[in-house]
Amino acid sequence: MTDVLIVGATGGREAALEQAIKLSKNVNKVVVFKDLKEGLKQFSDSKNKPFVIIGPEHSLVDGLADDLRSQGYKVFGVSAKAAQYEASKAATVQLAIRAGVTHPNTYIAKGANFAKNALKYVQDHNANSYVIKADGLAAGKGVYLPDTKQESLEIVNGLIDGSYAGGAGAKVINFAMRRRGPEVSAMVVVGQSPEDYVILPLSQDHKRAKDKDKGPNTGGMGAYAPVPSSIVSAGQYKKIDDMAAKLLAQMHKDGIEYKGGVMYLGLMMDEKLGGDPTLIEINVRFGDPETQVILPLLNYAGVDVYELLYIAATKGGIKSYMNNYGAIKNYAAITVCLAANGYGYTDTPQKGDVIYGLNNKYSGVTVQMASVTNNGDIKTNGGRVLYVSAAAKSVKDAANIVYKAIGDKPDGKKIFFNDMQYRHDIGWQAR
Ligand code: GLY
Repeated sequence: MTDVLIVGATGGREAALEQAIKLSKNVNKVVVFKDLKEGLKQFSDSKNKPFVIIGPEHSLVDGLADDLRSQGYKVFGVSAKAAQYEASKAATVQLAIRAGVTHPNTYIAKGANFAKNALKYVQDHNANSYVIKADGLAAGKGVYLPDTKQESLEIVNGLIDGSYAGGAGAKVINFAMRRRGPEVSAMVVVGQSPEDYVILPLSQDHKRAKDKDKGPNTGGMGAYAPVPSSIVSAGQYKKIDDMAAKLLAQMHKDGIEYKGGVMYLGLMMDEKLGGDPTLIEINVRFGDPETQVILPLLNYAGVDVYELLYIAATKGGIKSYMNNYGAIKNYAAITVCLAANGYGYTDTPQKGDVIYGLNNKYSGVTVQMASVTNNGDIKTNGGRVLYVSAAAKSVKDAANIVYKAIGDKPDGKKIFFNDMQYRHDIGWQAR
């Protein structure tokens, strides 16, 4: 039996990891801690070191996985060197070029004349022909789709002076040609060699705040998996698989061992390419909220998520391990985010509302807490408050299960808090 420490802020992703890992018959105790030292203290009585799963990208970029491995811990999470692809979008573009992987043409403003070149790019191009991407880590906030030159100038000046995207983009700004088409997330668990990887079921995040993809972009209002063949055909899936293989092989050739972690490929099924995939970004950790659908789906299909991650992090061989689970393709899952009033519209969404209905059992439903306080009553404490998730035989069935657990009044019969906002159409693409 193993103990497991998940390092990361308590959020939907970490809650989903905790729930999935707890289901393993091989796991003794699981805890989630933002602070590594505090987390390790929970196991001070144990003679064995816990298996450590690292949630957020910044810890990986800061080299936490390397540090822990050098101290003899078994760790799921990639090295700092490998994490550069999330830390720098320019590094991903350069990797994609070397690997021969389709990606949007990108102008990278950097170096001595960085600011001058970035502003010249804005002057010379139509604002709606490109996407502006700050180069560093920006907690999902460094991507901009300007409509006008004026707007673009404001963004680029804000990036240059460090007042936008938390300072990411103050040295390097990427201008990626704007593409159109549905976005798809491919989370690839990588074992101990470039060939040893498994693509988890493809999913789609729903970034806009309102139904029918209206309203502002958010961190993600829900997700579903798998993606139907009307969006990713068998031929297009093969291209995604080729892309993963080429990227891992190229990293290996470049002397970067991407292993024992997740490679999240943010893809667009590009209308101009007949719906074929183009690589938008690489993230080096599980997606949020995609994890809230993928892990329940794996559990539903009988996969021991702990075992999968442990094998990936240690001896490798996940491709053959997952071959035992061919039936995954017969299952589906969705997750719906219940967000606080103002989320997506203001930086200070409403807090402090009591959340009702959490003590009930909703058949087939799991709830992942993200931004809550728990001092007697469980109350809202931020934008994305919690996720309601379910897995079933189809997206439609999973959606029915989830939406039945969400209420519209504080009677305690269903999950509800005052002024909550959520999307009613998560997974519409597959329902
Ligand atoms: N759902 C997008 C991300 O995790 O980056």
